[in-house]
Amino acid sequence: MKEIRAIRGTQDILPGEVERWQRVEASARDVFARYGFREIRTPIFEDSEVFVKGTGDTTDVVEKEMYRFEDLGGNDITLRPEGTPPVVRAYLQHRLGQGRSIERYFYSGPMFRYERPQKGRYRQFHQIGVEVLGAESPRVDAEVITMAMQWLAELGVSSLALKLNTLGDEETRVAYRAALVAAQAARLDELCSDCRRRHLTNPLRVLDCKKPGCQAVIAAMPMIQDSLTPAASRHFERVRETLLDWNVEAEIDARMVRGLDYYRQTVFEITSSALGAQDSLLGGGRYDGLVERMGGEDVPGVGFASGVERILLAMPDEVAPAVADVFVIAFDERSVDTTHRLVHDLRRAGVRALTHAYGGRSKRAQTKAARRSEASWQLVVGPDEIAADRYTLKHMADGREEVVSGSELPAIAAQLVRVTATS
Ligand code: HAM
Repeated sequence: MKEIRAIRGTQDILPGEVERWQRVEASARDVFARYGFREIRTPIFEDSEVFVKGTGDTTDVVEKEMYRFEDLGGNDITLRPEGTPPVVRAYLQHRLGQGRSIERYFYSGPMFRYERPQKGRYRQFHQIGVEVLGAESPRVDAEVITMAMQWLAELGVSSLALKLNTLGDEETRVAYRAALVAAQAARLDELCSDCRRRHLTNPLRVLDCKKPGCQAVIAAMPMIQDSLTPAASRHFERVRETLLDWNVEAEIDARMVRGLDYYRQTVFEITSSALGAQDSLLGGGRYDGLVERMGGEDVPGVGFASGVERILLAMPDEVAPAVADVFVIAFDERSVDTTHRLVHDLRRAGVRALTHAYGGRSKRAQTKAARRSEASWQLVVGPDEIAADRYTLKHMADGREEVVSGSELPAIAAQLVRVTATS
């Protein structure tokens, strides 16, 4: 029979590796809570309309990367390629912004894009992201950016760089679009076929093309900065001043447009040189107008999402924690029942206890397993220990011993384990 394997572009996250994921998630919860964010969980699949309207029907994500299908009831379904439109959908559906409050949400979970898999790029990947709805102040842009930088720094991600740009407001966009269309029309025959199509549907997307022929044309195109309205300029200035004030270093990347259509004003990306070609750890920006386009009122928004797989690639390696605190070894077959009883008592007392005394395993084999488990304490249960009701807990690193009775064991082990964990 052919071996059954995980689908291309998806990955199993195995024990040993999953602990690093948990650390990234726990750190996000910790840092984001300091900034007043609460978790939101939306479904993994949505009506395709959420993304066609939200992400934008002329983006690469919607045009070529969606896992979109008709379900058995004839509904047009899409596995979420990103988290922002579902959060806005939930915000509207549950009327979460009533009274025009500032809402702060974070989310964590799998996203799906039919992209060409490579290192750091998958078809099922995981994002941790945040959205702030109801705040138009540039200070909030600076706040989410600062929070993202702080989180990644606390995780020990090395060589972080923050890239910042503005796409201007709606008025800027209309003016810039016209300038781009004119510039592209003059050199249309030099553009690739994708870009000739984008020129008509979404001229801004041409700026993202990586093909060398298009790059030459792009370099000569007008800059968005030349079309900024005074209000849009002021917004961006305030973001930059606030970041400067908070000692967050940013590099202006005037050509950065980001791949999704809803962005207005501030856009940003955080990269790490510890990564290869897929160096974007996190990206986001302001999306004033999206809530309205999705059927709500004119509520401003700003947020970001990070790629967990990429963060893990850029994070220092750590030793996986031991799977047990105490490993209990049965000296012989006669000691197996007591061994299991003690393991059970330890677990009930909150100690992570493990044994391999499942019959037919020699003391030597069990000792080997104990070493592999990296448990900090070992306990050997034999006929002598059982007869005397004296058990010796041995600390594997420093050889220290604690002799206890069977009834004392759980409480004393619990205490020792806690001390070891905090020392
Ligand atoms: P995005 O730039 O499309 O933005 O994705 C954010 C991050 O997700 C990227 O920086 C990258 O780390 C990760 N990512 C994207 N695609 C893949 C992939 N195929 N494999 C691995 N990682 C990937 C958004 O999704 C917006 N919703 C962010 C946002 C939130 N903007 C405002 N609020």
